[in-house]
Amino acid sequence: MPLDVVTIDGPAGAGKSATSRALAKRLGFEYLNTGAMYRAIALRALRLRVDLTNASALAAVARAITLESIDGRTIMDGEDVTDAVRAPEISRVVRYPANAPEVRAILVEQQRRIGLSRAIVTEGRDQGTAVFPDARCKFYLDASAEERARRRLGELRARGEEAALDVILSQILERDRLDSERAVGPLCAPEDAVRVDSDGKTIEEVVDEMERVARAKLPHFTGRERPRA
Ligand code: DC
Repeated sequence: MPLDVVTIDGPAGAGKSATSRALAKRLGFEYLNTGAMYRAIALRALRLRVDLTNASALAAVARAITLESIDGRTIMDGEDVTDAVRAPEISRVVRYPANAPEVRAILVEQQRRIGLSRAIVTEGRDQGTAVFPDARCKFYLDASAEERARRRLGELRARGEEAALDVILSQILERDRLDSERAVGPLCAPEDAVRVDSDGKTIEEVVDEMERVARAKLPHFTGRERPRA
C-alpha cells in the first residue's frame, strides 16, 4: 500500500497545481500532475490526427506513449511538452481521453506505479477516490465558481488577454459539469478527505493548512508505520 501519498482533488481553477507543487516542496515529496497526463494524450492524438471520438484509438495512443509528469514538467517520449499541453486547443479536446475508460485504466495504472515507488503529492479529479483510495492524507480543494472565474480572468489579463467574466464563469460551470458527470473517474470528494476552501485565501495560507494536516497524518513524518520496500 502506498503510504507516502498525498492526494489533492478538486474542480478546475481551485488552485490545485500551485498548492500541490508548494506542498510537495515543503514535505520534500515529488509532485504529480495527472491532468497533464490526459493533456499529453490529447496532444499526441491531435498531432497524429487520431479520431478523438474513437476511444480504442485513444487507448492505443496512450499505450504507445512514455509519460513523465513530475515536479511541474511534462515529458512525452523525451520531449518537454509542459507548455504545449496547456494550450487552449488541448483544453478544448482533453475531455475525450479523460472520458475514455481504457485511457483512464492505462493512466491510473501508471499513476499507481509512481505512487508505489516514491513519495508524492498528486493532483487530479480521482486521486483520492479511484487511484489511491488507501492514501492516508487526502484533500479536496474547492473554491466558488465566481472566485475561480475571477482568478482565471486575472491570469488572462496578466498575459495581456481580455475576456468577459460571465463568459469565463459559464466555461467553468460547463467544465465542472463535464468533470462531475464522467462515468469513470468523476470528480467527487473522497469521504475521508479534508476539505479546504481556497476562497479569499492566499496559496501560502492554503499550503500552511495542508502542511499541518499532512505532517500529522503521514507515516513518513509520524514514524508510526514505514512504507514497505
Ligand atoms: O487539471 P487539468 O485542467 O489539467 O485537467 C485536464 C483534464 O483532465 C480535465 O478535463 C479533467 C481531466 N482529469 C481527469 O479526468 N482526471 C484526472 N486525474 C486529472 C484530470
